[in-house]
Amino acid sequence: MQKQEKIVQMFNEIAPTYDLANRVLSMGVDIRWRKIACKIVLEKFKNQSINIVDVACGTGDMMGFWKNMANKFNVKINSLTGIDPSSGMLEVAKQKFPEFKFIEALATNTSLDDASTNVLSISYGIRNVVEREAALKEFNRILKDGGYIVVLEFTKRKKSGFLTKIRDFYLSKILPKIGGFISKNQEAYEYLPSSIENFLDTESFVDELRKAGFEIEVCKSFSMDISTLFVARKFKNC
Ligand SMILES: C[S@@+](CC[C@H](N)C(=O)[O-])C[C@H]1O[C@@H](n2cnc3c(N)ncnc32)[C@H](O)[C@@H]1O
Repeated sequence: MQKQEKIVQMFNEIAPTYDLANRVLSMGVDIRWRKIACKIVLEKFKNQSINIVDVACGTGDMMGFWKNMANKFNVKINSLTGIDPSSGMLEVAKQKFPEFKFIEALATNTSLDDASTNVLSISYGIRNVVEREAALKEFNRILKDGGYIVVLEFTKRKKSGFLTKIRDFYLSKILPKIGGFISKNQEAYEYLPSSIENFLDTESFVDELRKAGFEIEVCKSFSMDISTLFVARKFKNC
């Protein structure tokens, strides 16, 4: 089985317990990170009607934030579409949000039209995309000119200071035990620290976004650099 297929299968296996494990493991801190991401982008589209695509939507959490926060900024969401290759994750998402549209697809091949969306978000998903360069090309293709890409991700640390050591200890020793206990699949939760280690550091990901035709407007790390937010504007077709 190819690496990408294995990753998708792993998400299929943990899908029924994903939300519970996520709530326990994140202790709710991700809520603030997600809200800040939505706020920064929705402010740019005040009083407008927009299309939003959430790639690697999983069980749909980010889509819920887009919907709930749009009203505050008087943004009308014409369409809110979730894309994910895991049928198990989508099954849970559809139960939680029957009003949204979902497509079972990889980030590299969304099946959406050229220049069809104003905003594309991907939260804690890009790390799992094996063909990242092709995916960024696809995001550029489906975004309108001047549209925004919003990425939340755990990036690789460059230096190994005290705080990095604490984060790494939590990720490699505590999280797999708790995640494994809840999901009965410890291997899946051992994948998280290794996937961060195999991902890029913040600066390298910024470079990749630039090369893919995006201009970085916000690059902000949260909670002692645990998570990083990237907001970038499409400035050219790639
Ligand atoms: C950690 S979950 C994040 C889910 C959700 N975005 C959130 O914030 O909770 C990662 C998701 O990425 C999806 N995924 C894995 N490989 C992918 C790919 N190549 N293209 C799109 N999504 C992918 C998985 O199926 C999974 O639902």
